[in-house]
Amino acid sequence: MVFAVLCVSDRCSAGVCQDKSGPLIKELVSHLGKTAEFILVPDEKDEIEKALIYLCDDVKADVVLTTGGTGFAPRDITPEATKAVIEREAPGIAEAIRFKSLQITPKAMLSRAVSGIRGRSLIINLPGSPKAVRESLEFILPVLPHAVDVLSGDTQNCGGNYDGR
Ligand code: MTE
Repeated sequence: MVFAVLCVSDRCSAGVCQDKSGPLIKELVSHLGKTAEFILVPDEKDEIEKALIYLCDDVKADVVLTTGGTGFAPRDITPEATKAVIEREAPGIAEAIRFKSLQITPKAMLSRAVSGIRGRSLIINLPGSPKAVRESLEFILPVLPHAVDVLSGDTQNCGGNYDGR
């Protein structure tokens, strides 16, 4: 599987602070595949859209994981940029993340994250903090190989159990 990571943060892109979530995502997915590209952009809708289109259409990542910009802050715009570039919604993944995260913290209801498909790429919004990234990503990771198989037209294992049996 080929992953790409898009970090959305005004502060990180201005060099005010260092992105910790991007490297964490790379580490958490390393047993499933390689991270082909990592991009850092400010909370600007155009720049997020442009990066997502590049990662899906040119890099052809199987899974594009974004981190940051999903909350209520005035400049949080990642879900809107994602919705502008996806061709099909995949709401179950964002719902699953919120479901799992709400068992950890009620603050999870403040995430407006979305997930969807552009071409053969699956885009998944994750929150910005490393803690939230870990809690969100660990829950959905086991399903990603099958998601990518189905996305590429291989529906052979749809009847199998969650753990791949
Ligand atoms: N999800 C998990 N699993 N753990 C968390 O600590 N924090 C929430 C939420 N989702 C959180 C979480 C908070 S406080 C916010 S504001 C939103 O994610 C949005 O985060 P973002 O703006 O950094 O993307």
